[in-house]
Amino acid sequence: MYKSFFGLKENPFNVNPDPRFLFLTQQIEEALAGLMYGIQTRKGFITLTGEVGTGKTTLINRLLDWLHRKNARTAFLFNSRMNSNQLFDFILAEFEIPCESRNKSQQLMKLNHWLLERYRAGETAVVIIDEAQNLTYPVLEEIRLLTNLETSTDKLLQIVLSGQPELEEKLKLPQLRQLRQRITLRCKTAPLTTEQTFDYIAERLRIAGATGEPIFGKEAVETVHVYSLGIPRVVNLLCEHALVNSYVEQKRVVTGKIVEDVAREFQLDEVEPIAPAGGQQTPADVYNSESFLQNLGEALSRFRASPPATTTLKRK
Ligand SMILES: Nc1ncnc2c1ncn2[C@@H]1O[C@H](COP(=O)(O)OP(=O)(O)OP(=O)(O)O)[C@@H](O)[C@H]1O
Ligand SMILES: [Mg+2]
Repeated sequence: MYKSFFGLKENPFNVNPDPRFLFLTQQIEEALAGLMYGIQTRKGFITLTGEVGTGKTTLINRLLDWLHRKNARTAFLFNSRMNSNQLFDFILAEFEIPCESRNKSQQLMKLNHWLLERYRAGETAVVIIDEAQNLTYPVLEEIRLLTNLETSTDKLLQIVLSGQPELEEKLKLPQLRQLRQRITLRCKTAPLTTEQTFDYIAERLRIAGATGEPIFGKEAVETVHVYSLGIPRVVNLLCEHALVNSYVEQKRVVTGKIVEDVAREFQLDEVEPIAPAGGQQTPADVYNSESFLQNLGEALSRFRASPPATTTLKRK
């Protein structure tokens, strides 16, 4: 409803991980370059970690676009609540490898055979597991076995595990040290600095069709940064609602006061630390409002405990 009022063609602050909107900060660019390099040079096993809502899935979607353009074969697993049998079922199904048997060693043989064929044809095969902080130890152990599929010189299967910081913690556990030793590249996402928040908002508005005068005033962006702590998902939430409220008030430029009111409405000024969901959420749940807010609370409270060095503004 507000789109034509602000001269926009689409919603600029959707919470979907749409890779068209990917804003390349230096960190994101480095992470993307690292993932591309690692896969191209058959490094084998790569991790991508970062706080809740800092763009991992969006980055993965951009990576998938790139891999598809390169004709790589990909298996994207976004439901990390699986057991080891399901892991193999999902991988075979995603790669479209026909296999009647549900016997794990037969599935592994089929996969190995298929990977060798791909390798000989000069093709790359990549498994990407998102929300990998939820993977159980038995599944992580199976993933370790998958990293053993190799020729004498190259890894046959490239594996990317993407997840929240709990993934790194999990991989530090002694029982997972063999897997940890196989990580050849570690890529990261991070919250935005104040300057990046300015550019991020401007870039999303530009992609959504904005051409005229800035829609967000300087103070509005600063207020967004103060309350979001630079976490893009929270930035989107604040900006989306600020646009709606600004439209209701028929103001063409979003003010700091409007953003402030939205932050209060979402109680971003008083979120309490919330324990991690303990593995009960599915990706779909993340976007329903209650767990979405829980997610925000979790991200923000962690950052409040140790604010990023780049956050210099004080809450009013
Ligand atoms: N660099 C970025 N450029 C553009 N949009 C971004 C960027 N980073 C995050 N976003 C936006 O922020 C929102 C959250 O991003 P995303 O879902 O990719 O985060 P995530 O790190 O995967 O979160 P979670 O840990 O909850 O899975 C999305 O709307 C996404 O488009
Ligand atoms: Mg994600």
